[in-house]
Amino acid sequence: KNKINIAIDGPAAAGKSTISKRVAKKLGYIYIDTGAMYRAITLHVIRHGDAVLDHLEDVDIRFGASGTSVFLNGEDVSQDIRSQEVTQRVSEVSSQHQVRSYLVSMQRKIAEEKGVVMDGRDIGSTVLPEAELKVYMKASAEIRAKRRLEEEEARGVKIDIDTLTEQIIRRDALDMNREISPLVKAPDAVLLDSSYMSIDEVEDKIIKLAEDLI
Ligand code: C5P
Repeated sequence: KNKINIAIDGPAAAGKSTISKRVAKKLGYIYIDTGAMYRAITLHVIRHGDAVLDHLEDVDIRFGASGTSVFLNGEDVSQDIRSQEVTQRVSEVSSQHQVRSYLVSMQRKIAEEKGVVMDGRDIGSTVLPEAELKVYMKASAEIRAKRRLEEEEARGVKIDIDTLTEQIIRRDALDMNREISPLVKAPDAVLLDSSYMSIDEVEDKIIKLAEDLI
């Protein structure tokens, strides 16, 4: 069978990682959460200061076998990268050119052999412009905040819907308006509005699109 690469982009909390994980599992592909990579670098900057941006070659980022755990210089930071502090600072750190060039080249290397489902903001537009399938997932800010609220509550985090909505809107604005590879729908990406679709429906739709190409 012919292996392809699948790029899944979209704004914050649009359901990209849930869907990408499922699609990867179904196809037997590798799932790469690029947001987790930006979050890991942000955590490193919070801990050690901006000076680390000049020594990114010392920052080792790896994924566990399932694609869900993330290791920063050998330490499992899967939980820490989801903190409020990291979420609030990640867009600013991600706008830095050193950070982007370091991670984009790492991401391209991972996808070289194909069979990768990669989610993020600039995958279809910049990281893998040759990806055989590109999807741009969107949903209203209200619905995204509601879904994120359920996730946060499940993790035992206390936060209200208005704060979450504000944070999502702010992060999207920063990601869409940054200078280097802003969040944008690639012209050849399939637009999927998941506002009124179930997870199963979105998954089925992407699997069908992929199977036509495999
Ligand atoms: O996907 P997630 O919400 O975890 O991403 C966290 C942040 O990482 C985004 O808000 C964005 O600033 C940055 N990011 C990026 N490019 C990507 C993936 C994430 O700039 N490909």
